[in-house]
Amino acid sequence: MTGVGIDGIEIHTGKLRLDLAETFAPEMGDAPEKYTKGLGLHASSFPDTYEDIVTMGANAAHRLMKRKGLEPDDIGRIDVATESAFDHSKPVSTYIGGCLEQVFDGDLHHANKGERKFACVAGTQSIDDAYNWIKAGRNRGRAALVVATDTALYARDDPGEATQGAGAVAMLIDEDPDLVELSTEQGYGSADETDFLKPQQQFPSVDGKRSVNVYLARMREALVDYEQVGGKIHAEDFRLGPFHTPFPGMVRKAGVLAYRHITRDTDIEDELAEEIGRQPRSEAFEDDEAYMEALSEYTDALKDTERYREWYERTIDPTLDLSRRVGNWYTGSVHVARVSGLKSLAEAGEDAVGKRLLVGSYGSGAQAEIHVETVQENWLEEIDALNIDEQLASRYELSFEEYEDVHDAHNYDEESAVEEFTTPDAEFAFDGWGRMGERKYRFVE
Ligand code: HMG
Repeated sequence: MTGVGIDGIEIHTGKLRLDLAETFAPEMGDAPEKYTKGLGLHASSFPDTYEDIVTMGANAAHRLMKRKGLEPDDIGRIDVATESAFDHSKPVSTYIGGCLEQVFDGDLHHANKGERKFACVAGTQSIDDAYNWIKAGRNRGRAALVVATDTALYARDDPGEATQGAGAVAMLIDEDPDLVELSTEQGYGSADETDFLKPQQQFPSVDGKRSVNVYLARMREALVDYEQVGGKIHAEDFRLGPFHTPFPGMVRKAGVLAYRHITRDTDIEDELAEEIGRQPRSEAFEDDEAYMEALSEYTDALKDTERYREWYERTIDPTLDLSRRVGNWYTGSVHVARVSGLKSLAEAGEDAVGKRLLVGSYGSGAQAEIHVETVQENWLEEIDALNIDEQLASRYELSFEEYEDVHDAHNYDEESAVEEFTTPDAEFAFDGWGRMGERKYRFVE
């Protein structure tokens, strides 16, 4: 069998934009730099009143299928990853399948549909499921549609409110893929954590500062686990490192720790030794506290070296560009980071065929997963076909009062009569409630 991976990808952003520095920060009594420099975020995407996880996911999937010339019969499986589901029984993939049947001839009755939940890592888990299904030879020549879709909203005045976002990523998983091939090797870091959860509630309960540490700890574990099977990772082996990006500042923290780990016992550590010394080794310290302090001093110094900065600018920074403009999309976030990085290579005219990506996914609760992807021959066509820049540029700019209204409109506990801000155009829109409490959708020409 040829390789299996991502054959095509489409992104749909929520159609409203909240400027964090200009509009949100002053109302919160914060300096704009807390957002633009500290968190690394400039804006959040929000869904208009007629948008939700189904419309965003169906719009991304529709564009993907049309662009790739696919019919319902070509799809053997639809998996939706989300942590914003509104039904404990009926999966979002049935709604998305129903939407697609409105616009394509034929039906999706023979496609296996499901929903994956593990916070933000569920998108990557759905890709795994599709990969395994194809590798096992159960796909009958058909491809899998994976949709990662979320309205990542926090309760008003929660610190997480600064990192909100909404959008969907649709990916086609197939043999002989056009975009990236996935490695068989994977590493996991998984533990029972209570850092971010939604126990029967719409908005998350978050221990924000702890969630940052849990992200770093699980990601480190996954990296070590990956090396057990994939061999030692070297800093220069990877052209890009797309990581789960709840906000770019999080990946900035992860980047330096990853670099410290992968340069340990290498020529790079030796070369840097003259400038910042060698990495502290636990054996050299009497207690953990002294070791941790020395490690933290070394990491601070490492962050300021030219060698590290160059690596970060080349490998990590390009993956953060879209996230800066849209916020956290939960399950879609790492997949937005991959697109962002590849898009920047395309814009720079770089030939990326055969180059490798080190992909780090993460979900609170908590689990990290690391795998490797290899860029395929037709990658440029796939990236050039995206219209995400046009979508981002045409978002409606919210005032703070309008933001409050939109937040209420999407809050299950609020009554809201707010009108839509944009007009649906050749896309799926929410169309009211059915007699059993189901949500209804229609394609607006
Ligand atoms: P906060 O307390 O509002 O912000 O919450 P802060 O005071 O920590 O400031 C943020 C950064 O801005 C800091 O940088 C400040 O120094 C800096 P750091 O020190 O950490 O490098 N700053 C400034 N910089 C320049 N000029 C200024 C200025 N002021 C401050 N004037 C927090 C931050 C992340 C806790 C909050 O946003 C939060 O709770 N977010 C939600 C949770 C989250 O995103 N966690 C990330 C890891 S968990 C994860 O990724 C999973 C997740 O996606 C969910 C899932 O898996 O489903 C969330």
